[in-house]
Amino acid sequence: MLTVIKHIKMLAGITRPGEYRLQGERMSKIGHIDYAFLAIEDGKIWEFGMDIGAVPRGDVVIDAEWGWLFPSWCDPHTHIVYAGSREGEFVDKIRGLSYEEIAKRGGGILNSADLLHTMSEDELYEQAAARVHEMILKGTGCIEIKSGYGLNTEDELKMLRVIQRMKETLPVRIVSTFLGAHAVGRQYTQPEYVDLLLNEMIPEVGRQKLADYIDVFCDKGFFTPEETSRILEAGAKWGMRPKIHADELASSGGVEVGVRHNALSVDHLESMTDEEIEILRGSDTMPTALPGTSFFLNMPFAPARKIIDAGLGVALASDYNPGSTPSGDMKFVVSLACIKMGLLPEEAINAATINAAYAMGLSKDYGSIDIGKVANFFITEPIPSWDYIPYAYTSPIIKRVFLNGKEYK
Ligand code: NIG
Ligand code: FE
Repeated sequence: MLTVIKHIKMLAGITRPGEYRLQGERMSKIGHIDYAFLAIEDGKIWEFGMDIGAVPRGDVVIDAEWGWLFPSWCDPHTHIVYAGSREGEFVDKIRGLSYEEIAKRGGGILNSADLLHTMSEDELYEQAAARVHEMILKGTGCIEIKSGYGLNTEDELKMLRVIQRMKETLPVRIVSTFLGAHAVGRQYTQPEYVDLLLNEMIPEVGRQKLADYIDVFCDKGFFTPEETSRILEAGAKWGMRPKIHADELASSGGVEVGVRHNALSVDHLESMTDEEIEILRGSDTMPTALPGTSFFLNMPFAPARKIIDAGLGVALASDYNPGSTPSGDMKFVVSLACIKMGLLPEEAINAATINAAYAMGLSKDYGSIDIGKVANFFITEPIPSWDYIPYAYTSPIIKRVFLNGKEYK
């Protein structure tokens, strides 16, 4: 069955075959066709071109009413499987406590772990699926989801099973990441917990094939680069490539350890130094900025402008989680990237689509418009330009969303 979308004012986000990530100056260009159509078959992009003359005749024809069409946002860093919420800590922060101080008092991630421990898999699934529903309506089509609120073998596996069920039942493309090394579980010392990760959790996750990637919160007060290195080596034995938390709270050595272990991405980077930018040069690792976290925690923003000016790529993600940024709104993340990190709208849109897809290992099939790619995209209201997307930073201009070629309502 052929579906044809006609009357597209601007078909944006077209990449050339073989372009799986964009770097440096290439990030400031968005491939596009003015007055376009897009044809879909079997959930994939079958053809596109100018909407004049020879438009293929579809079994189903959808009128875009001269809205703009973009590939769906990809969100390569989230923690959306969590129990409840932590608005109490939000108020603690307003009263003057820092994220680190809250964590040191046994709050933060450990609070979420306590709650998750008491919640059934069904309820966790329902809460996380509701978050995905909201994210889809805001234009997201691919989501990476981490474990990391279990912090013992049983509860980490429980989280990963919930993510597995989400993969199987929800229309978005999901990849899973094992983040047992998110914090030290309450009942363990740091060395005991690292041993548990190496000798029990990672082999069990590997045997059950429950994670695509492995993550470590490599930062001041959490896991050292040396511990991170051991954890990543153990994950590599089970085919889990790293995507790590680095340089959120301090320049912590996370970038170096990530690049050394061929990480797919190093994420956060709020405290990244110029030397660490140089370490990324020539690597396959995608620096991933999470400006929603800086906004929510009132922290410095990652030096994304400098990274692009150094000729490298940047991806954007929401980091959706109950502590440091309870939002999965990628359009707002794109706005923040422009307003707070100095990215041009084109750079921010590329960072949230094709480069974000790369940062979750999906850019061969997702993240841009190209023949054969999965038909995940959204159509906007008629807008004056793509600059208008980050500019109108709270306007709900994303009007219709499509996943696997089917409209999601
Ligand atoms: O990416 N930094 C570590 N982990 C999350 C926050 C988790 C939480 O506070 O629950 C983050 O910001
Ligand atoms: Fe995170």
